[in-house]
Amino acid sequence: MIYEIFFSPTGGTKKVADALSAPFQGNVTRVDLIKNPRQIQTISFTGGDVCLVAVPAYGGRVPGTVVEQLRQVKGNGAKAVLAAVFGNRHIDDTLRELSDTLKAAGFVCVAGVEAVAEHSLVHRFGAGRPDAQDIRELTGFEEKILAALKKGDWEREPSLPGNYPYKSYSGVAIKPEVTEDCISCGVCAGECPANAIPEENPGSTDRERCISCMHCVSICPRHARKISGELVAETEKRIEAACAGRKENKLYL
Ligand SMILES: Cc1cc2nc3c(=O)[nH]c(=O)nc-3n(C[C@H](O)[C@H](O)[C@H](O)COP(=O)(O)O)c2cc1C
Repeated sequence: MIYEIFFSPTGGTKKVADALSAPFQGNVTRVDLIKNPRQIQTISFTGGDVCLVAVPAYGGRVPGTVVEQLRQVKGNGAKAVLAAVFGNRHIDDTLRELSDTLKAAGFVCVAGVEAVAEHSLVHRFGAGRPDAQDIRELTGFEEKILAALKKGDWEREPSLPGNYPYKSYSGVAIKPEVTEDCISCGVCAGECPANAIPEENPGSTDRERCISCMHCVSICPRHARKISGELVAETEKRIEAACAGRKENKLYL
């Protein structure tokens, strides 16, 4: 079986994952870690499976909620192709942490990809990516990975970038605020991957739990969740130099 396992609060990571799974020509089971968080635990992986696992870089790390989810899974020797998706700054230790987490869960990591998508906090960075050129490159990466898999070439571990101990990351100050347009429909509370929106009071946000992933902002049917323009402008200034220029997608095989 081929699985596409992704955590994509605002859709950029999913675009990359879809491009990477395109060479499998529709023969793919999608596992959405946000919309269906318990699905992954119901799957019995085997050594014959190939799992594409795609996550965004948050502060150069794997989002903590994803690490928790993956720790509950038994890989049973399934092959994993890893993708770290980033907003045109850097992935830092994301691929390394994803690989360490999956190996500890019993997966065999056969390849890694880093890919650019629009920055979900500061949309100017990586705007419009992945674009047509990215999609072509990513599809080409996966074809190379598939060829290596067919040759049975997974004994040799790919050399992935990143360090241990991982970069320290304790979140960002940007938390969604709720406007008077909120009708407490509860759509956001039902899907918040950090359980930071109480079902009984969707008009609030638990700032301690919130991981600033912007999923609630992107799915609110009334556009009633917003982030502070001032805080975004501060972040933009702070990371502007690091986000300059067009960053490349990379394959580690
Ligand atoms: C809280 C937070 C932290 C982020 N940290 C980084 C980072 O360290 N490096 C980077 O290049 N992009 C960073 N980004 C941008 C995301 O990695 C990028 O926009 C990604 O595509 C978001 O995935 P999504 O569209 O699937 O939600 C961050 C975004 C958020 C919300």
